[in-house]
Amino acid sequence: MKVAILPGDGIGKEVTAQGVKVLKAVLGDSRSYELVEAPIGGAGFEAEGDSLPPSTLELCRSADAILHGASGVPEDEHRPPQRQAGFALLRLRRALDLYANFRPAFLFPELTGASSLKREFVEGLDLMILRELSSGLYYGTPRGIEPDQSHVRRGFNTMAYTEPEIERVGHAAFRCARKRRKKVCSVDKSNVLETSALWREVITRVGLEYPDLELRHLLVDAAAMALVRAPLQFDVMVMENTFGDILSDEAAMLTGSIGMLPSSSLGDGKKGLYEPVHGSAPDIAGKDVANPLASILSVAMMLRDSFDLAGEAARIENAVRAVLREGYRTPDIFEPGTQRVGTEEMGDRVAAAIGNHLH
Ligand code: IPM
Ligand code: MG
Repeated sequence: MKVAILPGDGIGKEVTAQGVKVLKAVLGDSRSYELVEAPIGGAGFEAEGDSLPPSTLELCRSADAILHGASGVPEDEHRPPQRQAGFALLRLRRALDLYANFRPAFLFPELTGASSLKREFVEGLDLMILRELSSGLYYGTPRGIEPDQSHVRRGFNTMAYTEPEIERVGHAAFRCARKRRKKVCSVDKSNVLETSALWREVITRVGLEYPDLELRHLLVDAAAMALVRAPLQFDVMVMENTFGDILSDEAAMLTGSIGMLPSSSLGDGKKGLYEPVHGSAPDIAGKDVANPLASILSVAMMLRDSFDLAGEAARIENAVRAVLREGYRTPDIFEPGTQRVGTEEMGDRVAAAIGNHLH
């Protein structure tokens, strides 16, 4: 078990330290594993002059799994997209062909009050956003900003998918739904975009191979509305890269805080990239206030998806549950009557709860 640890920038460092703490607590001396840390994002720029240093990419290629914190620095605001620290992540996802990004929006019962929706709309929420991660609008070419003769600049990007790219993420969605509540909702904008018309056609065709599952289609605007009107109707939602970026942040708020959302990104094999859905949040970095649970829950996803350690994954999830039930909350999920703790203490408490469950 070789795991690349890429803390990155801002709160990425703090939350990843807690994820690693919990990983060590759950594995104990039960098996041998290797954790190798490397810089990415702004940290990569500083160390090697590149947001994704070649040595970091090499490490990721040789690892069985990658735990990423967050990449992005305040200076990014003044840089073109491809020069930003966060772009390292886009390069990494693409280089490893990690096309299936699973973003579970699961509401812990203890956090029902922290959701942005009323209790009756979110109680029992458990949906999976499957975001296509290695193609679509994020990567399509041509892209750029070009001057024209009259000095009116024109910015342009390309949303494009090949049939095989849609097929493989479609299969991933159906396979995932089979292990859950057997419902797939494919999200597109087929009333306007050719990419989406092809998407809908291909997903429908792939769906014929899964007659035991329910498939329906929603336009992305309607899906955005349905997510805040009646989110309990959804099981697996599969969509284009950009649509998934947007709708997964929306879904995050239903669970109380984006600080709760883990993710896994997989390709055809077992190697995966695991990371919180949140960013580097420079405004709260270094203050011991960030919620480490998304990183900790990402470690659970890693154990389950890359290492087939479902028991260990469940122990982490149960420990998180136990700590929430005891009333400990980071500021983002704090409610009156609960106990406010910092990033470190939250990590310590989850690690300790894992120990307790041993006996
Ligand atoms: C995400 C993030 C990234 C993305 C950024 C940091 C490039 O928002 O993982 O959702 O847009 O994919
Ligand atoms: Mg995002």
